[in-house]
Amino acid sequence: MASQKRIVAVANSKGGVGKSTLATNLAVEGALNGFEVLLVDTDPQASSAVFAATRDEHLPAFRVIQMSQPILHREIPKLCEPYNLVILDTGARETKTFRSALAAATSVLVPITPSAYDIWASEDVFALIDEIGSTRDLETHVVLNQVIPRTRVAQEALEALEELTEEVGAVLLNTRIHSRVAWKMAIGKGLSVTEFEPGGSAASELRALWQELGYSASL
Ligand SMILES: Nc1ncnc2c1ncn2[C@@H]1O[C@H](COP(=O)(O)OP(=O)(O)OP(=O)(O)O)[C@@H](O)[C@H]1O
Ligand SMILES: [Mg+2]
Repeated sequence: MASQKRIVAVANSKGGVGKSTLATNLAVEGALNGFEVLLVDTDPQASSAVFAATRDEHLPAFRVIQMSQPILHREIPKLCEPYNLVILDTGARETKTFRSALAAATSVLVPITPSAYDIWASEDVFALIDEIGSTRDLETHVVLNQVIPRTRVAQEALEALEELTEEVGAVLLNTRIHSRVAWKMAIGKGLSVTEFEPGGSAASELRALWQELGYSASL
């Protein structure tokens, strides 16, 4: 067992930025790296739960539960007892359940797409993290997702994001996740991108994300 239990909320009040995609892929990556993983799907849309149900039983396993009631902050100590990596996939609106998930977390991963609209919209989630985490040290990582391959992130978008993350005390990760067909196709087959195409570029990105988050250091 890990010395430190990690409870990571993958969160952004903006929809379609890749919360479920990254939550499910990180759950598999955690299982592959020897963690006992619990994936909590707090979104009534149930993307993560459906993904887990699609997985072949011979693949590295993790437990998934659905919890769309705003009770996670109360239930989390009991729920996460046998696990050392707990990933909370949140919905796309600032609801009581969303707040409850943030309050239950020990860290937050915020996927953001590199467009000015999405960067502006993400100010809401940082304000909420600040409000909920003000009494605790809620480590916040930001990852750029759906970057168009062979393009640089628009300089203005990057500068705006660098400024914003510095202002709110979040860490902008060096890993960039590009928009790739493998990220879409793997999900439909109940696979992570490393299982779907181990030598592919998406797999390299997932491994880089996992490394940069540094979770294995706590095992
Ligand atoms: N890096 C990527 N490359 C290609 N497609 C991606 C990538 N990341 C996410 N997608 C696709 O974008 C769509 C939205 O992703 P996802 O459902 O993970 O976002 P979400 O933030 O969980 O959305 P919601 O707010 O609705 O819960 C999906 O069709 C997914 O396959
Ligand atoms: Mg989702």
